Amino acid sequence: MGKLDRLLVLNFFLVFSVSRAQMPGFISIDCGGRETYTDDLGLVWSPDNQLISGETANISIPNENRKQYMSVRYFPADDEKYCYTFNVTLRTRYLVRASFLYGNFDKSNVYPKFDISIGASHWTTIVIFDANTIVTQEAVILAAAPTVDICLSNATTGQPFISTIELRQFNGSLYHTDFETEFFLGLSARINFGAESNESVRYPDDPYDRIWVSDSLKRANYLVDVASGTERISTSMPIDVNSDERPPVKVMQTAVVGQNGTLSYRLNLNGFPGYGWAFCYFAEIEDLGPDEIRKFKLSLPGNKDLTRLIVNVQENAQGKYRLYEPGSYNLSLPFVLSFAFKQTNDSSKGPILNALEIYKYLEIHYGSFDGLTMSSFASHYPEALLAQGGDPCLPAPWSWVQCNSDPQPRIISIKLSGRNLTGNIPSELANLTGLVELWLDGNMLSGQIPDLSGCLNLKIIHLENNKLTGSLPSYLGSLPSLSELYLQNNMLSGTVPSRLLSKSIIFVYSGNPYLDEGRNNNRRILIVICYVVGFSALLVAVFAYLFACRRRKIFSGKDDLTTVLPVQKLCNSFSELGTETAHRYMLSEIKDATGNFVRKVGSGGYGTVYYGKMQDGKEIAVKVLMNDSCQGNRQFSIEVSLLSRIHHRNLVQFLGYCQQEGKSILVYEFMHNGTLKEHLHASSQERHISWINRLEIAEDAAKGIEYLHTGCSPTIIHRDLKTSNILLDKNMRAKVSDFGLSKPAVDESHVSSVVRGTLGYLDPEYYTSQQLTVKSDVYSFGIILLELISGKEPISNTSFGDNFRNISQWAKFYCESGDIDAIIDHSLRGSYKDIQSVWKVAEVAVRCVNREMINRPFMSEVLKEIQEAISMEQTPNNIQPHDMFGTEFVDALNNPGSDVYSSDSFTQPELR
Ligand SMILES: *[C@@H]1O[C@H](CO)[C@@H](O)[C@H](O)[C@H]1NC(C)=O
Ligand SMILES: *[C@@H]1O[C@H](CO)[C@@H](O)[C@H](O)[C@H]1NC(C)=O
Ligand SMILES: *[C@@H]1O[C@H](CO)[C@@H](O)[C@H](O)[C@H]1NC(C)=O
Ligand SMILES: *[C@@H]1O[C@H](CO)[C@@H](O)[C@H](O)[C@H]1NC(C)=O
Ligand SMILES: *[C@@H]1O[C@H](CO)[C@@H](O)[C@H](O)[C@H]1NC(C)=O
Ligand SMILES: *[C@@H]1O[C@H](CO)[C@@H](O)[C@H](O)[C@H]1NC(C)=O
Ligand SMILES: *[C@@H]1O[C@H](CO)[C@@H](O)[C@H](O)[C@H]1NC(C)=O
Ligand SMILES: *[C@@H]1O[C@H](CO)[C@@H](O)[C@H](O)[C@H]1NC(C)=O
Repeated sequence: MGKLDRLLVLNFFLVFSVSRAQMPGFISIDCGGRETYTDDLGLVWSPDNQLISGETANISIPNENRKQYMSVRYFPADDEKYCYTFNVTLRTRYLVRASFLYGNFDKSNVYPKFDISIGASHWTTIVIFDANTIVTQEAVILAAAPTVDICLSNATTGQPFISTIELRQFNGSLYHTDFETEFFLGLSARINFGAESNESVRYPDDPYDRIWVSDSLKRANYLVDVASGTERISTSMPIDVNSDERPPVKVMQTAVVGQNGTLSYRLNLNGFPGYGWAFCYFAEIEDLGPDEIRKFKLSLPGNKDLTRLIVNVQENAQGKYRLYEPGSYNLSLPFVLSFAFKQTNDSSKGPILNALEIYKYLEIHYGSFDGLTMSSFASHYPEALLAQGGDPCLPAPWSWVQCNSDPQPRIISIKLSGRNLTGNIPSELANLTGLVELWLDGNMLSGQIPDLSGCLNLKIIHLENNKLTGSLPSYLGSLPSLSELYLQNNMLSGTVPSRLLSKSIIFVYSGNPYLDEGRNNNRRILIVICYVVGFSALLVAVFAYLFACRRRKIFSGKDDLTTVLPVQKLCNSFSELGTETAHRYMLSEIKDATGNFVRKVGSGGYGTVYYGKMQDGKEIAVKVLMNDSCQGNRQFSIEVSLLSRIHHRNLVQFLGYCQQEGKSILVYEFMHNGTLKEHLHASSQERHISWINRLEIAEDAAKGIEYLHTGCSPTIIHRDLKTSNILLDKNMRAKVSDFGLSKPAVDESHVSSVVRGTLGYLDPEYYTSQQLTVKSDVYSFGIILLELISGKEPISNTSFGDNFRNISQWAKFYCESGDIDAIIDHSLRGSYKDIQSVWKVAEVAVRCVNREMINRPFMSEVLKEIQEAISMEQTPNNIQPHDMFGTEFVDALNNPGSDVYSSDSFTQPELR
């Protein structure tokens, strides 16, 4: 390389990096990072250590070498919220992007689930279902205040954490909507069609750094049902994307074309069903001959009217290589969106599509009534770190604050005892009209007691042990609800208002040397007596408590199970006191309850189950274990101590055990409606279960299994999931049974003594490798889902036709050929509202029964799909043919001049 060349290169880099480093309006935070750096794209990343406290961890993921993903910041799994606050430009729009790469940072393999909010508005729930997959969420917001808060809260499982936060300021009116004072936009899909690689397009190609996802990226459930004849085309010609600068040129330079006349896709819209903002981006990038014409129509299932509307890109955009962006600002969309573009009869070319963007409208919550007052209050004590970011009440209150449950909550209690606060008591407190309790005792507060006469609800005021001066304000005597007032050990002076002394309240004001106690000395003595009495009562309570704890300890010390056994496994459940150790039943009690084992309600590899009713009326299921010489006392004890530590509402409750006269017995709650198997495969018509019931049963069971997989440490693998192990209660809600037991392989349906499970449900990969993981349970659960859809047994020589012997091959075949009807249980006809909910469950079931463990989803993901299917069935399904594009469609038809929907909507009658 010559000297000149080198100089040029150097120069180029200098200019380039300078211009890159100054992207105004970009904030890129590497959460848990330690330094500022510029990445390969030219984005400047900053660490978050000045913005927030909390722990950090390093992670390392194969094939992920972007520095921002090598660390995370995480927070305790508690009821608090943890907020980042950013300065923004008021009244401008921002793209907000947060990403999460779990990477097993806490070495616990408990996949976190928590909420993320923007200010007081719920944004979304982050559910991690794979340690090595980045979860990304994007939103478009209008900055309504000079700062924006992004908060993590509501840890449901695991510890909340975050990898990156990015803010990108938009220009002008980009992404303006008429609803932006009430709703912000949550991204569901932003797709670059015809992309030349599976890389996303983003900065610097997109000056706003939106991420345009490649349509060739293979992701589960993403863009399926692609019509045959779909081809990718591209051009290197520049595209005029007009003033709005919606999609970047690079995205518009590629497209898909339906050479056989149709483009069709199906995709999952996260967050839907609901109302959304949806735009398509077209540009003619092929050279059409003089006689050639490209015209096509959109088709959305159930929307016959829309098929009349015709797109002619070149005409609509007034030329080649120009953007045409029809869409709707308010569209009701389903979770599973199927759409197609179809060539019209007079068109010689198939439809084209360059890009697509869909957002969901998410409701803005303006937060607590007292938000401004509280941030102004907290700003007086910067050193005490009182401002914890975000709204003082929502989605979780600051640690020293309590709020009421109004839709727009008010502060009802402030507790800042012993926090070393100095200076005056801020007068802003007077604006907290809902305040009931104020605790500012044990600080170094000085100055006068401020005017709190506006806080008419004040009941309890603690200002003792400060350095307050001045006289007692007279309004204290007229606060209508006041019942306790503590002012002792200050420097207050003047006379105590007589109205205070005449009220029947607790009022303590000793230790104020300059305070004139007035005429009524008896009162103070009275109060002191109250105090002595109160204090003794407290002492008595404390002793009683200590004694009770001690007694429990002695009692449990006698219990043979807990002393013999170390704690084998611990579930992080909120187990109720007293159930920590298993209850021990006497054999005589059990004999009484079961009438000496008369009513048999089930049997299996483990033994026989009998019905019983205790003297107090409680119904129980008594499982008498088969005597198995391999399974000695110790094994039984281990299992009992384990079982007694697993609590979840979707697991059959373990009540206790009995080991006497050579019998090993486990006692469970009785489930009135028997097993799912009886209901699904019984011939009698009355046992028919509707689709929504089946979904609820699937949800319940999935929750129970997910808990075994993620809520217990170490993880519990069920190993024998099947419809006969899913039990139904009086309300037909499901619980999983037979968990946490080592399974004696004596049942004929069990395969061998090494591999445990039941034929038909047995994970083939586990069978061959004997490697047991949670994914084996996922396989079995997939079979159960297929049974719920089809009503068929897992294995049959007759019911799957000639080609298949088992349910998984059969269902997979029909799902993959798009024929869901072929596998739906006949008795379900008419019981589902939306066939897409059946599709959804079938798709996830087919993924569950994938032969390779690695391709199966985790239970949390399966659960999410089921819940989404439920919400599809529960939304009122009164979509009129034209409602898919909202009522504007009709308006626009009637009123072509309507300026809102004129140039950028599908609804253009003049195009016909
Ligand atoms: C992360 O790694 C760096 C070295 O690369 C080290 O200095 C730092 O202490 C690590 N952080 C944690 C939380 O382990
Ligand atoms: C945000 O703005 C305030 C005042 O306007 C300033 O004190 C603070 O340092 C800014 N924060 C950041 C992170 O720039
Ligand atoms: C926390 O999440 C659970 C479910 O994940 C939900 O039921 C609960 O309402 C949430 N709590 C708050 C305060 O949002
Ligand atoms: C934003 O708009 C201004 C003028 O309206 C323009 O100069 C600037 O380049 C735009 N910024 C971006 C990132 O497009
Ligand atoms: C992206 O494409 C490359 C090469 O074309 C391929 O090796 C890689 O597996 C693809 N990645 C994904 C996630 O599809
Ligand atoms: C287009 O359709 C014809 C028949 O309709 C079919 O034979 C041909 O294979 C299709 N082309 C592609 C690329 O799928
Ligand atoms: C408190 O209320 C007064 C009068 O209503 C108002 O002027 C003031 O701005 C309020 N202060 C705060 C911090 O909200
Ligand atoms: C208050 O100050 C004392 C002495 O400086 C210190 O020991 C104590 O930790 C402080 N308390 C709080 C809550 O900051």
